[in-house]
Amino acid sequence: MESACRICGGVVKESIDLGRQPRGNGFLLPQDIENEFFFRLAIGMCDSCTMTQLMEDVPQEIRYHDAYPYHASGSAVHRKHFEQNARYFLEHELTGPDPFIAEIGSNDGVMLATIAKAGVRHLGIEPSAEVAEMSRAKGVRVLPEFFDETTAAKILDEHGPADVVFGANCIAHIAHLASVVRGVELLLAPNGVFVFEEPYFGTVVGKTAFDMIYDEHTFYLAVRSVQAMAERYGLELFDAEPLALHGGTMRYTIGRPGMRTPAPAVAEFLAQERERGLGEHAALQGLAAAMDKVRTDLKDLLVRLRAEGAKVVGYGAPAKAATVTNYCDIGPDLIPFIIDSTPSKQGRLVAGSHIPVLAPEEFGKADPDYAVLFAWNHAEEIMANEKVFHARGGRWILYVPDVHIV
Ligand code: TMP
Ligand code: ZN
Repeated sequence: MESACRICGGVVKESIDLGRQPRGNGFLLPQDIENEFFFRLAIGMCDSCTMTQLMEDVPQEIRYHDAYPYHASGSAVHRKHFEQNARYFLEHELTGPDPFIAEIGSNDGVMLATIAKAGVRHLGIEPSAEVAEMSRAKGVRVLPEFFDETTAAKILDEHGPADVVFGANCIAHIAHLASVVRGVELLLAPNGVFVFEEPYFGTVVGKTAFDMIYDEHTFYLAVRSVQAMAERYGLELFDAEPLALHGGTMRYTIGRPGMRTPAPAVAEFLAQERERGLGEHAALQGLAAAMDKVRTDLKDLLVRLRAEGAKVVGYGAPAKAATVTNYCDIGPDLIPFIIDSTPSKQGRLVAGSHIPVLAPEEFGKADPDYAVLFAWNHAEEIMANEKVFHARGGRWILYVPDVHIV
């Protein structure tokens, strides 16, 4: 299978097929099982610009419905990270007269709330009605639309050029990313920067984090593909900084060519990616083999534990849990429920695998022997919160980078 690259028009060759999958965030009620949406989840790499991407997309109206259940403020670590982001911008980028910052996919206002409190001009662009409403309650200005060239022109008209355009865990979601980058190019002030943080393709490959692959993640960015994208749309990549967030994130800083001196990290990561072969199809073929082994090992372990009469539950129901349970064919027969702190997920089923999601109180009540940590990127926070479970002899099952018990 081949498709056209969404960034450069080159040829994308398919390398990994995860089969029939639901929407990662398609948490559903039992009565809606009959009408559940499925599509073929597969990724490939562009021959020309090396951008790794989904072969097929779910229409964005289906993805970001009014009750989009992901709340960026759901983790204390994330709240702190985004507050630090805001402070960094206030101190380093928003220092001129009457500065302006726009955030694409501002979610529940977790970053912009700090900017709003500082009295700095800002605008969140957030199409999901419920989270947009949550950010308004924090005093954040929101435009309830999808960001693209047209929206960018409107924002420029109304607010003037932006000193910062920010995006976290959303830029790689946008299938019309080419139009987004053109819009940013339009909107940026001469010395403005476009800063975005997205899961790093090098992490997906390096950690066999195949659960990062789901319908919302249209692109799997690497320093090389982001640099190619920036150049194609008249911008330059100035910096690339690795972050621990979401298990392995890269934060990119882009701006108008020649306006800043690129940090040494850009050349360093490009060299590292070349060495790892991240721009070659073989990287995806290696990932395919590694994830196949995780599937076998995880399913075998769960089947064995069930046979031994052990009680196994899940912990954390991120969208990633849908990819893993569906790819590994794990249903309520092996994991009767998954604990998650997000109220809007509780009482619903994980998409496709139909494992019920329950509130954290149920964890202690059930007193399980094992818990599969689907929210492995929050391991430290969750294991600290659930110290009692481990102290009582409970064990965590992790499947990244391979299946192991701690
Ligand atoms: P994320 O990996 O997309 O941030 O999603 C993490 C999920 O894990 C989210 O649904 C909230 C849930 N979670 C808990 O249930 N308990 C916790 O302590 C943390 C940090 C997250
Ligand atoms: Zn391309």
